[in-house]
Amino acid sequence: MSERETWTTRVGFLFAAIGSAVGLGNLWQFPFKTATNGGAAFVAFYLVAVLVVGFPAMLAEFVLGRRTNVNAVDAFEEMGHRNWRLVGGFAVFTGFWILSYYNVVGGWVLRYILGSVRGAYFGDPAGYFGAVSSGPEAVLAQAIFLAIVVGIVAFGIEDGIEKATKVMVPSIVVLMVALAAWVATLPGAGEGYAFFLSPDLGTMIANAGSIIPFAVGQAFFTLSLGMAIMITYSSYVGEDDNLVFDGGVIVVSNTLVGILAGIVVFPILLTIGAEITTQTGGAGALFVATAAGFGTLPYSRVFGVVFFGVVLIAALSSAISLLEVTVAYANDNYGIPRPYLAGAAGLGLFVLGLPSAWNTAWLTWFDNFAYQLFLPFSGLLLTVFVGWVVGRDAVDELLQGADGLGGFSQVWLWTLRLVVLVALLGTLVLGIQTMFLGSDPAFFAPF
Ligand code: PHE
Repeated sequence: MSERETWTTRVGFLFAAIGSAVGLGNLWQFPFKTATNGGAAFVAFYLVAVLVVGFPAMLAEFVLGRRTNVNAVDAFEEMGHRNWRLVGGFAVFTGFWILSYYNVVGGWVLRYILGSVRGAYFGDPAGYFGAVSSGPEAVLAQAIFLAIVVGIVAFGIEDGIEKATKVMVPSIVVLMVALAAWVATLPGAGEGYAFFLSPDLGTMIANAGSIIPFAVGQAFFTLSLGMAIMITYSSYVGEDDNLVFDGGVIVVSNTLVGILAGIVVFPILLTIGAEITTQTGGAGALFVATAAGFGTLPYSRVFGVVFFGVVLIAALSSAISLLEVTVAYANDNYGIPRPYLAGAAGLGLFVLGLPSAWNTAWLTWFDNFAYQLFLPFSGLLLTVFVGWVVGRDAVDELLQGADGLGGFSQVWLWTLRLVVLVALLGTLVLGIQTMFLGSDPAFFAPF
């Protein structure tokens, strides 16, 4: 087998990981989960969830990847016992599942960039979304998006992912800041910021039970956890990096981009007086409600192209990280060249994504499974493994390159063992309830 690649620089790793974390989860889900879960109260819970659940879980994935320097499936075996491979396998499966419909949404974004050039959705945003989001054209767009992703991953870690994300991540930040400035002068700006950023304690307390699981799920998804990505990316990292510091940089950057997304989206929504609490959720959220407002902005077409351009870059840099998970597994285990593996995985993803491309009801169904069941379950298994089964070795690995953080490492271990564990277990139980046991189980939605 040829020598395994590594990141050429530490910044290269950071950009790749930030590129993975910053994606549709920040730009698409986050503003709309916020809108449908009580605004700033949700944001407050989300920030806590990122800190006490997401950050420790990310470090757990880093420890596993860097200690073993192999793909996610073999990593569990090397640090534990052969049977733990199943847990790694489940994380890889979860990632594959998510990527299948993520590509579909990537395809919509491509269409919206073209639509922005012509101002095609300004007049009838809902009608345009309906036309773009289902049927043969959505399948074609999905295939094009996927082909770009496959192309980047085929070039490998250094020449593909690292080079691409080094350009992509700074572009996302610069363009988002520009968009935020663009909308700052809108009449609804002040109201938008308040809705998003000033939490009402009463709302927080009254709705804590229903908001917290969403906040935990969102923290997990947006940090690319539970899908073997961070295990895989950190397997290309050297022993002298400080994982705690790197994890902190990634978490903070990802959170800031999410906040920026809200600062861009809410002024637009409140200016056009969108029904922010009801029709804003669901798969079409970003596309219908927000796009409806673009038409009213100065230079609306340019705005649309830039906005969806950012979304596209963010979606691409996330999708490549997820494809890399599968490719790394196959590459470590079979001597097949990377381009073939990327192509084969791409073909599998295309097929699995067909129902979602054909009909958004299926996309929602796939997404529900991922959010409500697969991610919390995968995260729970990871937490039990790193926190309780590996324990000491994990702390040792965390401390490599992180001298002086002995006290922190204990806090980390116990947060993982208790807080992360309980949060994910609770989220999973509620997920099972929503999918199968409630009065209107989400499992049956598309049938
Ligand atoms: N963190 C990513 C996001 O917010 C999650 C993700 C990564 C999804 C990779 C798909 C692929 O969009």
